[in-house]
Amino acid sequence: MPNRDSILITGGAGFIGSNLTRAAIERFEEVYVLDNLTYAGNIRNLHSVEDKITFIEGDIREHEIVSEIYEQVEVVVNLAAESHVDRSIKSGIPFLQSNVEGAYVLMELLQEHDVDRFIQMSTDEVYGSIEEGEFSEGDPLDPSSPYSASKASADLFVNACWETYDLPITIVRPTNIYGPRQHPEKLIPKFTLRALSGDRLPLYGDGSNVRQWLYVKDFCNALLQIVDHDTDGIYNVAGPERRSNIEVTKAILERVGASESLIEFVADRAGHDKRYAIDDSKLQEEIGFDPQYGFAAGLDETIEWYRKHRDSYQ
Ligand SMILES: NC(=O)c1ccc[n+]([C@@H]2O[C@H](COP(=O)([O-])OP(=O)(O)OC[C@H]3O[C@@H](n4cnc5c(N)ncnc54)[C@H](O)[C@@H]3O)[C@@H](O)[C@H]2O)c1
Repeated sequence: MPNRDSILITGGAGFIGSNLTRAAIERFEEVYVLDNLTYAGNIRNLHSVEDKITFIEGDIREHEIVSEIYEQVEVVVNLAAESHVDRSIKSGIPFLQSNVEGAYVLMELLQEHDVDRFIQMSTDEVYGSIEEGEFSEGDPLDPSSPYSASKASADLFVNACWETYDLPITIVRPTNIYGPRQHPEKLIPKFTLRALSGDRLPLYGDGSNVRQWLYVKDFCNALLQIVDHDTDGIYNVAGPERRSNIEVTKAILERVGASESLIEFVADRAGHDKRYAIDDSKLQEEIGFDPQYGFAAGLDETIEWYRKHRDSYQ
């Protein structure tokens, strides 16, 4: 296992980034966070760890800023992205800018610096929907939304960087991740906060869309294990349990102690993928990742966190 002291986490003021930053300060002597604080970036997410990290407010597309940080770090994890499918349906341009151009700037600049390992955060959504069975890393990409198309594009650029420049890049494709500090536009925090306030929960379609759910602490552990494994390639990271959106909604209502009559079925999202399912046996075989949280335990912890912090995350 290579011994590395320094890491850059882009998008570290966002949901996964701020959780990863907390995990990374236990492992790395120097943790840099680069984030341009879009509507989704929240500096409060880094509250209580600010004095243990170097925070740089800036865009991943800014060559000079990125080059300066690359001189200081051995590992880069690129989490900076526009991440909300609904917003991408309204306008895909910011998704092209951050998720494709931004990711490519970060990759291209690797050629000029001594970064040992670059992790590009992708998503299971790049494979598209699957009626039954599971997608593996070699399956073709078939994205349905401007968001997933932008993530798939970045993955294609990684492939080009492997073939053309032999760069040390790893792609990680996780399922849906949930937990503390997620923006309240996303399903679990949105429905939790609304249920706590007694507001209606607008559920797309008939709520039968199925996702695999992975608790953020487990994901951060998997990601740090992938960093240590230090291999080019693609890793699916699957959540331990599948749930339909209606099952997730009812589980939230039950924990909050609110009535199912708050559920309001609304017109389905355009191009809404029915079912995501990935196989992560490659990760299990090569790295041995073992998630510690089942869906019930992860949801309990998440709802408790939003109950405590609801005033700051409405
Ligand atoms: N949350 C999930 O369920 C999930 C699942 C699979 C993959 N992902 C991927 O994981 C990554 C992180 O997701 P998240 O849920 O934490 O997203 P998020 O929206 O909570 O955070 C994204 C962060 O990136 C920052 N950012 C955006 N554009 C930037 C730019 N050009 N320069 C610098 N910073 C920029 C934002 O300010 C924000 O802090 C994304 O790449 C997303 O596509 C998320």
